Amino acid sequence: MGKVKIGIIGTGSISNMHMAGYTRLENVEVVAACDIKEERVKEFAKRYHIPNVFTDYNEMLKMKDLDAVSVTTWNNIHAPASIAALNAGKHVLCEKPLALNAKQAQEMVEASKKSGKLLMVGFCRRFGENAIALKEMIDNGDLGNLYYAKTGCLRRWGNPGGWFSDKKRSGGGPVIDLGVHMIDLIRYLSGKPKAVSVTASTFNSMGMRPEVKGIQKYNSADYSEFNDVEDCATSIIKFDNGMTLFFETSWVQNIKEDSLYLELFGDKAGAKMEPEFELYESRYNYLRNTKPILDPNGSGFEHNFIEETKHFISCITDGTKCINPAEDGLELMKIIDAIYQSAETGHEVIL
Ligand SMILES: NC(=O)c1ccc[n+]([C@@H]2O[C@H](COP(=O)([O-])OP(=O)(O)OC[C@H]3O[C@@H](n4cnc5c(N)ncnc54)[C@H](O)[C@@H]3O)[C@@H](O)[C@H]2O)c1
Repeated sequence: MGKVKIGIIGTGSISNMHMAGYTRLENVEVVAACDIKEERVKEFAKRYHIPNVFTDYNEMLKMKDLDAVSVTTWNNIHAPASIAALNAGKHVLCEKPLALNAKQAQEMVEASKKSGKLLMVGFCRRFGENAIALKEMIDNGDLGNLYYAKTGCLRRWGNPGGWFSDKKRSGGGPVIDLGVHMIDLIRYLSGKPKAVSVTASTFNSMGMRPEVKGIQKYNSADYSEFNDVEDCATSIIKFDNGMTLFFETSWVQNIKEDSLYLELFGDKAGAKMEPEFELYESRYNYLRNTKPILDPNGSGFEHNFIEETKHFISCITDGTKCINPAEDGLELMKIIDAIYQSAETGHEVIL
């Protein structure tokens, strides 16, 4: 096939990371961009020399010379835009979370099957070299049987506001924004077990704290202080491979500093992937810690997007098996629905 013709739906912050990938690929041409904000999409198209500009994705999807789209909108537009694109015969790379909930995600998976077009979910962290290395070790049995994992992504003061903190448009707070990556990584690394039960608490104790002075935080492009999502959450998730995951996340919490951690424990060894890669094992009955040497840039934000878009295009052009199929996005939405349901009812949710 000739060049793969791409359209971008949603030209806010993260679309620039998709462009960082697409613009590096010789067999790709980004031919269209769409955003409901006319000024923003015009400026984006000018920056990247994109010839066709739209404010309605349904108009963009009428383009015959368009093979695939990136959906990089607010979360509530992921399902309608992806389904419209699939129905119009386009392949879709949709940002995480796949949808607002599992019901929408299921409809997306069905639209992909019906159209025969690829729906890939943007779990970009799977493309980090740290994740690739750890997956290879786990797949080769270096950790033995995995029975426990823990992961967290905690911010002391980091609610981005705007659509992120408006539940109608986001589906929730740090659980659906940050947690989706961390829980996905645990599932992916441990061989994609299915969750069988979820117990969770979410807290709306701190709010957004816009009054905080002295430091800067990342604010959404269309910043507002409306906030009806959780500011913190904790959960125990049990999987059908016998593994239990402890998970916690926050946007606002009285902690010393922000932190990110991910650890998996097997009966042969333990591994920490974040904040730094370490293995805890034993040889000749001596306990020892080892530290694989990895390229420090190989797991960076932009690197992961470059690899993710490269993989998406290779799935389209070479029939490469997609490592981020929409079904994985759906499994995550089931877990996230269960976290919110358990928090609301105060009971364990059996999946
Ligand atoms: N993979 C990652 O690590 C990562 C990081 C950041 C954001 N994201 C995801 O990317 C998505 C976008 O996040 P962002 O930070 O770029 O937000 P953003 O607010 O900067 O950009 C979203 C854009 O979507 C546009 N939009 C809204 N409705 C639209 C519609 N109907 N048609 C066309 N455009 C529409 C908005 O006007 C805005 O310009 C979210 O789903 C977010 O979860 C993923």
